[in-house]
Amino acid sequence: MKNLLGFSKNFLWGSAVSEYQVSGALYCPHSQWAQWEKKKGAIREGDRSGASADHAFRFEEDITLMQELGLNSFRFSIEWSSVEPVEGQFNRQILAEYRNRIKALVARGITPMVTLHHFTHPTWFEEKGGFTKAENIAFFVRFARRIFLEYSAYVSLWCTINEPSIVSLMGYFMGAFPPGTKDLTTAGVVLKNMLWAHVQVYEILKAMPRGEESQIGLVHQYLRFEPYSKWNPFSSIICRYLTKNFHESILTFLRTGFFKFTIPFKGSLSFSLPSAKGSYDFLGINYYSRALLKMQWSLKEPLQAACYPDEVMTDMPYAVYPRGFYEALVDCSSLGKPIYVTENGIADERDDRREGFIRGYLEALSDAMKKGVDVRGYFYWSLLDNFEWAEGWKMRFGLYSFDPITKKRTLKKGSQIYRQIIEEARGSTQDLTSHKMM
Ligand code: GCO
Repeated sequence: MKNLLGFSKNFLWGSAVSEYQVSGALYCPHSQWAQWEKKKGAIREGDRSGASADHAFRFEEDITLMQELGLNSFRFSIEWSSVEPVEGQFNRQILAEYRNRIKALVARGITPMVTLHHFTHPTWFEEKGGFTKAENIAFFVRFARRIFLEYSAYVSLWCTINEPSIVSLMGYFMGAFPPGTKDLTTAGVVLKNMLWAHVQVYEILKAMPRGEESQIGLVHQYLRFEPYSKWNPFSSIICRYLTKNFHESILTFLRTGFFKFTIPFKGSLSFSLPSAKGSYDFLGINYYSRALLKMQWSLKEPLQAACYPDEVMTDMPYAVYPRGFYEALVDCSSLGKPIYVTENGIADERDDRREGFIRGYLEALSDAMKKGVDVRGYFYWSLLDNFEWAEGWKMRFGLYSFDPITKKRTLKKGSQIYRQIIEEARGSTQDLTSHKMM
């Protein structure tokens, strides 16, 4: 194995979760996802999230799991729908629970990174039209302010919104996430409004006490669509379209303050917000793979996710692709802001590809850092197996599995390499320092 260098002493080695996925509809009953998963056909095999891993109530135990792996950071989301189940009414008990959790992390040497919106929001917000309406952004801003006021004494790393592009693509174009809309124009509007919401939250939090010292960023899923056969004009055009509108448009917005979303045969939606240029202290990148699309003879589904014969496929329909991770990091470094890898991981039910995945992607990360890319932390997705949205329970991303009845956690064999790499990286940091001192 290559020598993994370039990690500073302060590098954050973490894992990431989202509340809904690890605590389920039972903890988030007022979220639009809790309603959505009841719908027939919404989730693969009719799976339900239930209490999931019961993370909200096994928090101390889960911090021990993090410590077992040598992690020093944890990314998680604060569930808006549980904190504000009724418009304007904040639940004190839930706020106190989050306070306890955050204080427990800090007390045990784990740096918290909080996500304010990770796919879920209250049903009352959804009923008002959610992010399809620009005037609704104010509700999210009010929630963000409240959370920042409550916890900024303990939390200095904040993610405003997780993956606006995926919310818009899956919820408003593919119809696979709530509200199940299939309309490109609405998808464009939602994407624009979520980016706008990010900028508003950023500016307001930065102006609050402790705002200046806090690091606040947007989390983007770095996803490029590529045609399986480059000579196929149909798949090439579709891939180019998706990459441009659901990926490049976001980086361009952050770079220039200008957002453009094209709606074929209808024109385009554009939005200019010059202050967006400086509206993030870091960029959070979620990177898994590229989407390789292959044409097939089906009118219903003309393009299918694929991988080349020499590639290893994960359980999600994409390949293990560390080279793409390296390229993504180098590409994003041109924004000139620090980067956190806020998610990276593999769905691997058999646990026979996880070790190779972690090794390959961390080598790519180390290579990018050696090239000068300023990466401050890496969060493996995920600490625990969890409810993978429309895919339900089939996709096993966790470093730990858990028993569905007793909830007992077990470290997977393929995850051990993560602990080993962290130890080695820490060791080489020390070596470098002692070398310099001599
Ligand atoms: C996303 C989300 C996570 C997923 C993870 C694995 O990227 O869709 O941030 O909630 O579970 O990415 O697919």
